Order: sequence, then structure tokens, then C-alpha cells
Amino acid sequence: MYEHDVIVVGAGGAGLRAAVAAHEAGADVAMVTKLHPVRSHTGAAEGGINAALREGDDWELHAYDTMKGSDYLGDAPAVETLAQDAPEETINLEHWGMPFSREDDGTVSQRPFGGLSFPRTTYAGAETGHHLLHTMYEQVVKRGIEVYDEWFVTRLAVTDEPDPNDRTCHGVVAYDVQTGKIEGFKARKGVVLATGGPGQAFDHTTNAVSCTGDGQAMAYRAGAPLEDMEFIQFHPTSLPSTGVLISEGVRGEGGILYNDEGERFMFEYGYANNSGELASRDVVARAELTEVNEGRGVNDEYVHLDMRHLGEERIMDRLENILHLAEDFEGVDGLVEPMPVKPGQHYAMGGIETDENGATCIDGLYAAGECACVSVHGGNRLGGNALPELIVFGKRAGYHAAGGDLGEAEIETGYADDVEDDDTDLPITPGEAGIEPEGVAADGSGQVTDAAGSLERAVEAERERVDHLLEKDDGVQHSEIRSKLQQAMTDYVNVFRTEEGVKKALKIIRECRQEYQDVYVADPSRTFNTDLQHTIETRNLIDVAETIALGALVRDEFRGAHWRKEHQERKDDEWLKHTLISWDRGKPSVWYRPVILEGEEKTYEPKVRSY
Ligand code: FUM
Repeated sequence: MYEHDVIVVGAGGAGLRAAVAAHEAGADVAMVTKLHPVRSHTGAAEGGINAALREGDDWELHAYDTMKGSDYLGDAPAVETLAQDAPEETINLEHWGMPFSREDDGTVSQRPFGGLSFPRTTYAGAETGHHLLHTMYEQVVKRGIEVYDEWFVTRLAVTDEPDPNDRTCHGVVAYDVQTGKIEGFKARKGVVLATGGPGQAFDHTTNAVSCTGDGQAMAYRAGAPLEDMEFIQFHPTSLPSTGVLISEGVRGEGGILYNDEGERFMFEYGYANNSGELASRDVVARAELTEVNEGRGVNDEYVHLDMRHLGEERIMDRLENILHLAEDFEGVDGLVEPMPVKPGQHYAMGGIETDENGATCIDGLYAAGECACVSVHGGNRLGGNALPELIVFGKRAGYHAAGGDLGEAEIETGYADDVEDDDTDLPITPGEAGIEPEGVAADGSGQVTDAAGSLERAVEAERERVDHLLEKDDGVQHSEIRSKLQQAMTDYVNVFRTEEGVKKALKIIRECRQEYQDVYVADPSRTFNTDLQHTIETRNLIDVAETIALGALVRDEFRGAHWRKEHQERKDDEWLKHTLISWDRGKPSVWYRPVILEGEEKTYEPKVRSY
């Protein structure tokens, strides 16, 4: 067994920032990560970091844009914290050596991004995330923070008091990908989950193969609620054949979208008469698919993104990476022809419910970054707001987990007697199949309430589970189940959603759960067994996909990225509230908590959202 004060799970932007903050607060920190830090999916972030740095801009404008972008489902204390802390954190990155793109006078460049009222997005070419990862990893190395890389965390060690609000997280169990060993990691002070999003629940995604919702699924099974899972962002410009991202930075620099008839449809058909291509992502993604559905798509599938008019010099200076991606993955030369693009799953606005200090309702368990929902993004995230979220809330979570004082949080977490329960007649009984009766904390049956007991039990359960998967010599392969799940989510829980479709998805997810009970791993080896790793990840995807579809079913309104055919209006009277799904005593329940629109000095009154 290994032991540290703070264990950070995942080593993308949020994890690295959390580790540095915990270390600076005096903790003995370790990172446990299934990928080497610089291979984390943060490295795929192209566009930039929003921060109000220039004269004429201020944090209040950033907060307002974010709240409007969220379609009034962001919590004001979190949104304001993001906007207030982003400048200092961005400058801090600059001091750590982040190679930001610059103006001739040496100042850090900022460009327009969708939904912003000011050109606020700092960037490093079109590889901002790559540079961010390397800059922060250097800080981790410099501080001698221990990194257990290629250790895949598969379970949390959580006590099992009946009420999740009374539970404590004492560590994690991880599988060493190189040797096949399964070991416990005790956390004396706290565990920070920074495991990224669940993009692989969808078939067409900008997300890496490693984005399998691991932290969300583990936290959910341990009793922490998942919040606003129905809000999935579909990025308007992914390459059709692979899902590879073409940065919003192209449109920020002046790139134009055309339909097959050569029309600049964002204006031509009135989708966004003011902002055009730089409307928020949900608006642009729906516009593109409407063009395709109405017969004006190219090859009935995509639209064109044209940046030729920007000229070679500017493209090479600010968007060189885009030229390589279009050439390598689509065989298109962006200097001489338009690039094919279509919406692709990109980001999960929802995640593990946390307060603005990164704390969940389980004592000692924290979450930050895409796996968390604090909530800053609400119904729709603005481009360029993910990276500041990683550094602002990663830092807070790491500092707090190490025992640092950030004051009383305003955002509440955990089920409480005064919350509103959902009364939708659900077409399935969610979540009862596929969860082994192995004394997991969340079923409240084991009554293990001490650190040693919870860790020992968790290690034992994981060893048994892996032995079972490796010893079973036939059954269903996880890849069949995963493809079926991805197809269902892409067919039915995509940009346009119908009640019937979402119910179909839930039924298929239920089938996937049942099939998973017969899953086996064809490769019996213990070392570098990617089949085993992906099989474990597929279970996480099933759990998370079910919460996405459940949220999409119960929220019968149209808000942000959540479009429902039968409910074409935002229903502020009924739906200014977060959807919470918690796995509690063996059966998930759906409930609601009101959104917080009261900021430090003003209340964000919901307005008609147009761009
Ligand atoms: O389009 C992009 O470069 C992506 C940025 C983001 O998701 O924030």
C-alpha cells in the first residue's frame, strides 16, 4: 500500500494544478494517472484561455458572458470566482513559462471566441492545451511531486454510512498497467478527482480514447451526485471522418462557415444575426445540422469552414496546427480549399457535484475540471472557459484538500431533505443491473466506517473483479457493448433530442448493462493489457451514459445545449434548477437543487439569449 496526504487522480490541467496547489500548501502529494501527464487530453485543447486582462474588459463582463452562455444555469458564486481568478492564474502561467502568442509589443495576444463580448481568449497558437500541460508538468517535476503514471484508478475507498453526506473517502485503488499489480493508495487528507470527461460515450467525438468518465462513474457509485449530466456540448467544427477538433480559433480569427450552396448560413438564415459564426457553440451546432437536415449540407453530412481569406502569413502564425490536422486527417489543404466540418461531442458541462472549493458531499473527496460540475458552464460552456476552469478550480480543490482555508462555500452539495424529488415516470429502473454485489460503499450494506477497512475492502473487491475478468474464458467482448452504447448515444442523445429517442437510448443502455454482466477479456496477460483496461472503462461509460440519458429525459425544456423536440422553450418558471442523479442505497434517484443567480453584487436575471 502507498500512502500520501493528498492523492490527485488524473494528470491533465486540473490535476496538475491541484497537485501544485496542494504541494504549496505543505502536503505530501502524489498523482495517480492512467496516462503519462503530457499525454492527457488537455493536450488536445486548441483554442485558449479566457481571462479579462486588457483595458476595456473586466471580470464582470466575463462573468456576464459566461452566465448568458450557460443559459442561466451556471451558479453565480462559481461563475464569478472563475472570472475573478482567471487573470491571476493566466499571468501565473505566463510566469511559469507558458509560451503564449504575443503582439508586436510583447503583450499576450487575445482573440475573439464564441459568445464573448470582448476578445478575451489568450492562446498559444492553436496548441494552447499542449503548452499548458508541458508548462504545468514542469512545475510538478520541479517540486518533486510523485507521479504514479500508467496506474489506472478503478475504485474509491469510501466508508458506507447509509447517507452519502456522512461518508469519508480514504483513498483509491489502482491497477498498475505495466505489471498488473492492484494496490491501495491511502490519502491521509483528501482525494482529488481530475479524470476528465466521458466523451467516449459517443461515437463521434473530439475526445481522446482515454476520456471514459472514470472519475464520474467512481464518484457516482460511491454516492456523490452527478449534476446536470444532460448538458453535453457538441463542438461545431470537428472533422467528419475522425472527430478531430478544428479550433474555434479559426472562426475567432475570421473563418467563415458556408453551406453547400455557398451561403454564409449563420446570417443568411438568421441563426445569429449579430455574432454569426461566433455565436455560442450550441447555436452554431444546431444551425449546421439544420442546414444538413434541410438539404443544404455538403454530401448530406457537413458544412465548409473557410479560412483561405486570412492569408498564409496569419494562418501560419496563429493557426498552423489546423493546417496539419486538416491535411493529415482529411487530406484537405486549408490554404487552398475550405475544410469539411460537422458537430462532434466535445465536452460535458455536467459532472460530479462540487462546491466552489472543489469539495463533494463525501468528506475527503474532491473533483475539478471536466469531471466536476461546480457549476460554471450550466447549459452551455463558452469556448475558452474550460482551461481557466481547470487552473482556477484545480488550484482551489488541491489547496482545500491539503487543508487550506478558502472560507465557507456558498454552493451546497449532497442530497438534503428540502430538495425537490423528481416524479417522472421513468421507462426503466435505472442502474440496478451490472453493479456487482460486492459490498461497494454506495449500497450502504457493508457498514465499513474506518479508513483501513474501507481501503482493504476496496482493494480486495478490485482484485476479485480483475481476476474474474481475466479468468472467464468466454462471453461478450466489451468492444461490442461499447460500440452499441456509443451508437445509441449518437443516434438518440445528440444535438437534437426527442422523448422517444431518449427512451430508446435508455433501453439500449439497459441492454448494455445486462450484456456487461457476461463480459470477458480475451487477453489473459497481466502486463499492458489494454483489453482489460478498456473493459473496465466500458463499465464506467455505461454508468455515465445512463445518467446523461436520464437527465435528458427528465428535463422537459430547451435550454443551452439541451434541445427537446416536444419542448421548444426555456421554462424559467420550472427549470431554473440543476438535475442531480445520485446512486444511493443501490438505486439511483433524480432530484433538483435551485440554480444560484445571486452574485456578489448583482443578480443575473435570465434574459432571452440571442447572438
Ligand atoms: O475550439 C477550440 O479551440 C476549443 C476550445 C474549448 O473547447 O474551449
